[in-house]
Amino acid sequence: MTEQELIARARGAALKAYAPYSGFSVGCAIESVDGEIVTGANLENACYRLGLCAEQSALTTAQHAFGLDKVKRIAVAGGDGSGDALAGAAPVTPCGGCRQAILEAAHLAGRDIVILAASGDGEAVERLTIEAILPHGFGPKNLEDGA
Ligand code: THU
Repeated sequence: MTEQELIARARGAALKAYAPYSGFSVGCAIESVDGEIVTGANLENACYRLGLCAEQSALTTAQHAFGLDKVKRIAVAGGDGSGDALAGAAPVTPCGGCRQAILEAAHLAGRDIVILAASGDGEAVERLTIEAILPHGFGPKNLEDGA
């Protein structure tokens, strides 16, 4: 799958977001090492702090579909999802909590994970890796010295 196709899947997923409080729809598409794709979107709640991010939604589906250790590439896009297509000019990079969740997959897989951070309209794309945006992160390997 090309970068643009994976971003298109993330943009499409954002249209299924439930984001009535922020008005900011985020979609995420995850590709496995075998080319499988799963998607997710943010899911907000009247109790604001219980909202779920698109990345964590998609990572949960990835675990069920093929396992976190097979996550290869992730596309994220966010913006105004009220129209026929997601809109917005600024690339959306994963929040701190989502970076931690992506790092878990990277540590399980034993390799870095590519993140395509796209704008709502898909025109602007930042090519990142989890090691680059969460350097010196704490993950499952750090627990190896425990009892
Ligand atoms: N959001 C995500 O889904 N992923 C991120 O990485 C950043 C933020 C969502 C959470 C909330 O529903 C909305 O965007 C505004 O913060």
